[in-house]
Amino acid sequence: MLGLAARRKLWFWGFISTVALVALSDSVFTYLKKLVIDDAITPGKPESLWWIGGLFILLSILQAAGVFTFIYLAGLLGERIQYDLRRSMFTRLQELSFSYFDRTPVGWIMSRVTSDPSKVADLVTWGLLDTTWATMSIVSAMVFMLYLKWDLGILVFLTIPVLVFAGALFKQRIIRQYRKVRQVNSKITAAFNETITGVRVIKALGREERNLREFRGRTDEMYRAGFRAAWLSALFLPIVQGIGAVALATVAWFGGAQAVRGAISIGTIQAFIGYVTFMLWPVQDLARVFSEMQHAIASAERSFSLVDSRPEIVDRPGALSPETLRGTVEFERVAFWYKEGEPVLEDFSLRVQENESIALVGPTGGGKTTIASLLCRFYEPRRGVIRIVGRDYTTLAQKAIQSRIGVVLQTPHLFSGTVRENIRYGRLDATEEEVAEAARVAGADEFIRALEKGYETEVGQGGNRLSTGQKQLISLARAILVQPDILIMDEATSSVDTVTEALIQRGMESLMRGRIAFVIAHRLSTIRRASRIVVVEGGRICEQGAHADLLRARGKYYRLYTQQFRMERMRELDLGTAHSLLGATDPSPIPSP
Ligand SMILES: Nc1ncnc2c1ncn2[C@@H]1O[C@H](COP(=O)(O)OP(=O)(O)OP(=O)(O)O)[C@@H](O)[C@H]1O
Ligand SMILES: [Mg+2]
Repeated sequence: MLGLAARRKLWFWGFISTVALVALSDSVFTYLKKLVIDDAITPGKPESLWWIGGLFILLSILQAAGVFTFIYLAGLLGERIQYDLRRSMFTRLQELSFSYFDRTPVGWIMSRVTSDPSKVADLVTWGLLDTTWATMSIVSAMVFMLYLKWDLGILVFLTIPVLVFAGALFKQRIIRQYRKVRQVNSKITAAFNETITGVRVIKALGREERNLREFRGRTDEMYRAGFRAAWLSALFLPIVQGIGAVALATVAWFGGAQAVRGAISIGTIQAFIGYVTFMLWPVQDLARVFSEMQHAIASAERSFSLVDSRPEIVDRPGALSPETLRGTVEFERVAFWYKEGEPVLEDFSLRVQENESIALVGPTGGGKTTIASLLCRFYEPRRGVIRIVGRDYTTLAQKAIQSRIGVVLQTPHLFSGTVRENIRYGRLDATEEEVAEAARVAGADEFIRALEKGYETEVGQGGNRLSTGQKQLISLARAILVQPDILIMDEATSSVDTVTEALIQRGMESLMRGRIAFVIAHRLSTIRRASRIVVVEGGRICEQGAHADLLRARGKYYRLYTQQFRMERMRELDLGTAHSLLGATDPSPIPSP
């Protein structure tokens, strides 16, 4: 972690040494005060005041300059560390493979990125400042005391272990309570967050009472911890003052007795009193400083675990970047699992010719999206190979693959910004006309024009001001605009009405010519025209062929299709019955005996 600061070596050491010097100068001030008494006032030599006063002024100026320097350097260093850390986190997050995000909760990553950099910066600046200051103050005060009167010094030191012990005992408890308060507080924030985002579900399920009870439990917990912390803090201060008073009393008692005998000067007693009060605070504070350091080190370690994670999918040295991906795509005996021991694909083989459009159908959880993710190289096969343009795709550059594949994901994602910016996301140099053309092919043009500001309408965070179907159409336009060599549509039009869907299909036909397309759909009417339909179940292909052939074969696809067809018919009929029932005198569907 100090490596971060080491990159600004000069700033860092400049900062530490100025802090040490300023702390040291405090001890020197106390010594100068002793000289005022012993060398000027007691012997009646006012002329000494000139040089002592001169030193005083000089030291004050130096100290002021020192304070300015270290505060300034701490600021610079802190900002720089945060900047470096945030930047390396952001870079790393963009490089990391999907598998990392499967394993790591988003909340964890968010707190690494939002709060940890400032904690790390605080540790390297204010944390080190506290430590250096405290250590330097204690050491210099001790050295001066030993120099002035070693036996009285040692007597005073006896109170140090008592102070350290009391400090450790109390401070750690107080900190533990405050930490609890913070933890409960973040739980409360999370509860607020969930309540606000999930307000519809909460109301719909009538969970208000139960949520309130849980919430009350947490606020009670927070109140109790806060109360305990306040109580301990209130108790701690008088204890420290008591111990300090004992140390001062020792100085007054023994020092006073020796002064009467002339064994010690008045100035020395005065200096001792200064050093004791001076040492008191850093000593009792050590426990807090160390505990906070530990805490900050823990958060530093967490941030570095993020920065040091290595993406699982990286380009091999000498990876190729072909101009185009047009050609064949081949899955050869591909096996894949997200979690060891839970295979999703087993022995999956599929060869796709240039300009073929493949429809993947099958039951939920069958592995269709996984196939699409593998093709995009979001994940790599655990066994077997995927070949694009005749080459094992792990020998190609990721960028070359991903920039030539257009994907419309099952869960469409838009970024906050305008509709136009969202469509243009994958090809920033596209003209307005090209954007509009892509939107027309995707069947999105019409609704976009009907929006209040047309293409300049803000879509809101994650596109939440649009309907799911509208988001899908925009994602589709975005994929089309890239003019990809391979197009993957995972349930791309599942939330769009059937009329619009038919329109899109017509528009897409010209686009798909000469390209490979993978279309995943549950609504089988949309994939009838695919050149080949592949039925995937349990991670294997159980049937494939053209629509008509598969129907003729009367296998799985036939059953899926006829079932869906029958259900659609029934829905229509149901609607019909509902209408007639509304008109009928006895709406009871239960036949009377
Ligand atoms: N990121 C992931 N981490 C762990 N397991 C996953 C992940 N994504 C999918 N799975 C598992 O892999 C299996 C196949 O999922 P996949 O999303 O490929 O199915 P699908 O055929 O696309 O289903 P659907 O028709 O519902 O979209 C499922 O059992 C699912 O639980
Ligand atoms: Mg899916």
